[in-house]
Amino acid sequence: MLVSRPVPAPLASWLDSLVCPRCRRALELVDRTLRCAERHSFDIARAGYVSLLTGTPATSGDDDDMARARDTFLATGAYAPLQDAIADLAPSAARRILDIGGGTGYYLAGLLDQLPAAQGLGVDTSVRALRFAARAHPRAAAASWDVFTRFPLRDAVADLVLDVFAPRNPEQFARVLEPGGHLLVVRPDADHLAQLRAQVPGMVGVDPRKEERLHEALDPLFTTVRTVPVRFDLSLGAALARDLVAMTPSARHVADEQLRPLLTGTREVTVSVRASLHRRR
Ligand SMILES: C[S@@+](CC[C@H](N)C(=O)[O-])C[C@H]1O[C@@H](n2cnc3c(N)ncnc32)[C@H](O)[C@@H]1O
Ligand SMILES: [Zn+2]
Repeated sequence: MLVSRPVPAPLASWLDSLVCPRCRRALELVDRTLRCAERHSFDIARAGYVSLLTGTPATSGDDDDMARARDTFLATGAYAPLQDAIADLAPSAARRILDIGGGTGYYLAGLLDQLPAAQGLGVDTSVRALRFAARAHPRAAAASWDVFTRFPLRDAVADLVLDVFAPRNPEQFARVLEPGGHLLVVRPDADHLAQLRAQVPGMVGVDPRKEERLHEALDPLFTTVRTVPVRFDLSLGAALARDLVAMTPSARHVADEQLRPLLTGTREVTVSVRASLHRRR
């Protein structure tokens, strides 16, 4: 007997918020697909995420090795102080949380643990990351779409958008947030992982104008409520250091053979990032 697999409950809770990415009509659930009145249909993958990508594939997104390295690295708890800082900064009234470029869903899961009445939706273009994200938390759904397109969401369906080391689309963030809703952004400071960068010359540096560009993009639409530096030291063995390099955009620039001889023994590495909370104007 063929038993149809139930649709993940966290995804069902976002169904009324989602619209067809092609024609913007409502979506309804038919078997394991979301379908609009124009019969555009979008599959819910076996792993539990819904694919809402249309047209040409996104030009960016983590590959399988990067997503796997991220999952392994984050599972060690090495970035738990950042997860705690995000949970401290997030408004405690948040109920509908979007995690944009959410990767494996680690930070969203931490927030949902802290906010028992909240529902989350992690968005990414990486299939491997989405598989992790779809099971990151019992109240976290996962969907794929390109952050640089118009989001397949109605207006004002979220009260918190999370963006951790991920690409940003401030106009869409503002559109899908309720009036007074919040955006929480985490980005690296110039000296983030400096000791590791010194050891691995191919690692991508941080744009010195990053802060300026962030504010230029956000300030017309958002008021900054608070910015906090988050700094802590990690003692990284070789395997963890390799995972940390492999989960960053540097993975594309540093070949494995280049890395192996460099990363032996243990090193102290400083995580130096900035987290900020912005209110939609
Ligand atoms: C540096 S990772 C951060 C992941 C997660 N927020 C974290 O900190 O663990 C950036 C994420 O953005 C995703 N991404 C890149 N380009 C994207 C796009 N155009 N649309 C949606 N997601 C994208 C990548 O696949 C990756 O998972
Ligand atoms: Zn449609």
